[in-house]
Amino acid sequence: MGSTLRSQNWFGKEGKDGFIYRAWMKNQGFPDFEFRDRPVIGICNTWSELTPCNAHFRELAESVKRGILQAGGFPVEFPVMSLGETLIKPTAMLYRNLASMDVEESIRANPLDGVVLLCGCDKTTPSLVMGACSVNIPTIVVSGGPMLTGKFRGNDIGTSDIWRFSEDVRTGKMSQEELGLAEAAMCRSRGHCAVMGTASTMACMVESLGLSLPENASIPAADSRRKVLAQLSGLRIVEMVKENLKLSDILTREAFENAIMVNAAIGGSTNFVIHLLAIAGRIGVPLHLNDFDTFSSNIPLVANLQPSGKYFMEDLYYAGGLPAVMKELADFLHQKPVTANGKTVKDNYTGVVCYDRNIISTTENAFNPISGIVVVKGNICEDGAVLKPSAASPHLMKHKGKAMVFENIEDYKHRIDDPALDVDENSVLVLKNVGPKGYPGMPEVGNMGLPKKLLEKGVTDMVRISDGRMSGTGFGTVVLHVCPEAAAGGNFALIQTGDMVMLDVANRSLNIDVTDEELHKRKQAWQLPAPVTNRGYVSLYVNTVEQANLGADLTFLKGSSGSEVTRDSH
Ligand code: FES
Repeated sequence: MGSTLRSQNWFGKEGKDGFIYRAWMKNQGFPDFEFRDRPVIGICNTWSELTPCNAHFRELAESVKRGILQAGGFPVEFPVMSLGETLIKPTAMLYRNLASMDVEESIRANPLDGVVLLCGCDKTTPSLVMGACSVNIPTIVVSGGPMLTGKFRGNDIGTSDIWRFSEDVRTGKMSQEELGLAEAAMCRSRGHCAVMGTASTMACMVESLGLSLPENASIPAADSRRKVLAQLSGLRIVEMVKENLKLSDILTREAFENAIMVNAAIGGSTNFVIHLLAIAGRIGVPLHLNDFDTFSSNIPLVANLQPSGKYFMEDLYYAGGLPAVMKELADFLHQKPVTANGKTVKDNYTGVVCYDRNIISTTENAFNPISGIVVVKGNICEDGAVLKPSAASPHLMKHKGKAMVFENIEDYKHRIDDPALDVDENSVLVLKNVGPKGYPGMPEVGNMGLPKKLLEKGVTDMVRISDGRMSGTGFGTVVLHVCPEAAAGGNFALIQTGDMVMLDVANRSLNIDVTDEELHKRKQAWQLPAPVTNRGYVSLYVNTVEQANLGADLTFLKGSSGSEVTRDSH
């Protein structure tokens, strides 16, 4: 292989340059042969104690290293910005693109021939994959794995229960003390959220795209087989470098279509839409919002996982994992795309067995014939908005009701529990200015809690519309990602309390019963909100972020700059 290795442009050099490149690395105790024609594999680590879902990644990296060494590679671990969904404010999504820049530049700037991406909590997966796509060297993903299922007073619990617990506390059905006990019971092991929330959706996304070894998505973080997968991924990346199997060889249009179909079958998060669009934008594959509806509308829900179903990621693994789900989709999926292990999609599920039909059904006997992502359009969302039908209430899929508009999240928090709020179960809750530019960062507040007075009446769902996102663990009849967002001057900014809202999911429409003339009049009176800040990353983000229907990437980050380093300062 010799000089074909990218890293040899550093470590293979003679004279002063080679001396500098090697000598400083040798202070870590590496013998000379490590630098001679060995694939140098970066382990891109999002370990952080501020990202609890990824707090076990140092250990996982050791397993990856073992595999790389066994295959004759030279492993080098490096940190990148880590985004912990639970702690980071105002929202981890604000920093997804920033983290992707860190990843991209770290990979390109260093003597790496291949990369292992250690991903876990929601945004750590798309940010790492996006950054790696903009470099496009051989890359494999190792996910951190889901937590073990939470156990609380005889029941299985997971992140989706937080919404129920919090409403039970608001209505007095649960005490604060009980809530504290539930906290400890839910997160009882290492790993990311145990339901089909965004982190699990992202882990399934990389597996269905072919970016990881089979079974990567579901092996629990605490299961010793997670470490085995990490070691095998370390072994495999060295082979991928020898085969020059790059991200662009795996991430074809067909691979993206497969990922959309698999996401429908598992009831994956709506956040999948934004992240997949952003990844496609980096690798240069044309993908459009309508593709999510087109390729998912005939896919039934075959994985019975919360929040669309009953079970947890741990159960999915024991039932056969994602390969068993993909086997059920054999009539739908493209069979030939190559995956990280060098085999095709079909090779990877051939011979796989489903061990529990309560968790993975056949397509003929699906848990829900409705699944996937629906894209609606209309006079308040000209560029589209999304809804996840498997998490919504069937009786609200065609609905007409008066809007109760909240101009921003503070307005919502201030008024939602006001007994005088003029709402009933037919009202439509509308939350503006929580889109990419408006918040900024597009937080997960779209499945806003219901008014207390309606909860007390036993109302469990209402139509809710926003330009924000929803946690992958959330549920309800919520229309999200309205584009253009209010802060970008879309008609969504013009809805007023009392307007009649008409949602018709079957016909893919969402409109308000307001004439074009009236909308035009309102538009004339509308004013662009003042910028939140004029400095730093947030200012850069607000000024360059695309709308959600394009993936909410920064305009100047789309595409790839390749792996070449054009200048050498030594
Ligand atoms: Fe990290 Fe849910 S908070 S995966």
